[in-house]
Amino acid sequence: MRIGILNSGGDCPGLNAVIHGVVGAADELGWEVIGFKDGFEGLLPPGDYIVLKPHDTVGILKLGGTILGTTNKGHFAAKVGKGDIAEVPPEVVAKAKRTLDQLEIRALVIVGGDGSLTTALQLYREGWPVIGVPKTIDNDLQATAMTFGFDSAVSTVVDGLDRLHTTAESHKRVMVLEVMGRHAGWIALWGGIAGGASVILLPEIPFDMQKVAAHIGERDARGEHSTLVVVAEGASLPEGDIVTVASNEGGEVRLGGIGEEVAHRIEQLTGKETRACTLGHLQRGGAPTALDRILGTRFGVMAVKLAEEGRFGRMVSYQAYHVDSVPIEEAVNKLRVVEPEGEMVQVARAIGISLGD
Ligand code: F6P
Repeated sequence: MRIGILNSGGDCPGLNAVIHGVVGAADELGWEVIGFKDGFEGLLPPGDYIVLKPHDTVGILKLGGTILGTTNKGHFAAKVGKGDIAEVPPEVVAKAKRTLDQLEIRALVIVGGDGSLTTALQLYREGWPVIGVPKTIDNDLQATAMTFGFDSAVSTVVDGLDRLHTTAESHKRVMVLEVMGRHAGWIALWGGIAGGASVILLPEIPFDMQKVAAHIGERDARGEHSTLVVVAEGASLPEGDIVTVASNEGGEVRLGGIGEEVAHRIEQLTGKETRACTLGHLQRGGAPTALDRILGTRFGVMAVKLAEEGRFGRMVSYQAYHVDSVPIEEAVNKLRVVEPEGEMVQVARAIGISLGD
């Protein structure tokens, strides 16, 4: 028995833990694992892949990124423009399938986010033996309570806020930290609460700059002269605009810049010196936390179990401290965003954090 694995979409801490889990569990069953390079592109003839034995995965748990490479572009990109979905052309699918058949791959583990899982679903419907593993630092897939990479990203946000805290205090400044979170503000909310932010601005909760400024003013009046503000990259300005850097050459629009914009408006409204900082891809790189290594390993082991049971077209999922699986079709195109009245938002409000509303 031979199975394949590929990573697709943006990278994320913990991808190598999934590879480690898949290779370890497959080897225990006497199976061989083929790792395709650079996402689905590695399936295109003549095939770009490596055979993965347990000794090839020694020491990779602690590595960020993925030893296989990945891409969110190329022949298999499912998401184009603003959330539109593109079908992979039949001739591309047919070429890739020939590679799969020639290598006698009996199951293909696809580790990816919403876009890549949409491609996985198309391939499954065309008869491929596909198993999905969810991946996104944004933690915004409805069908799984948690994805690996999120905890590592939040840890980076907390580290960033801890550093900004001391410089903000020294200068009695407002520091605005822009963090990732395209559609969902989980990274901003969790990172902001854990890192001691006083204002957290999310895509899900429209904010008012006057209210943000008033909150900072009240803090100032009671002697708290520095303030940490966290803003998710996907949050909209009060006039309803998301802030973008550029379109992503056929892919999703590239977000970025809201931190600077919010900082500028705070300075104008409060008269307090304000600086912005963007964490960007620092949140995606570096060593995964222990939690992400464990979650990635568990996901990899479950993917092999699904292959063993012949349960294709399913995606590994995590619910109530338990790793299980759901049909991929139930998982794609359903985002889990922050509920404005949810428990985490209530916790933030309860400790005096302003959501800007
Ligand atoms: O979806 C994950 C994510 O990290 C988003 O938070 C961010 O907007 C996007 O990927 C960045 O993508 P890229 O690496 O292609 O710029």
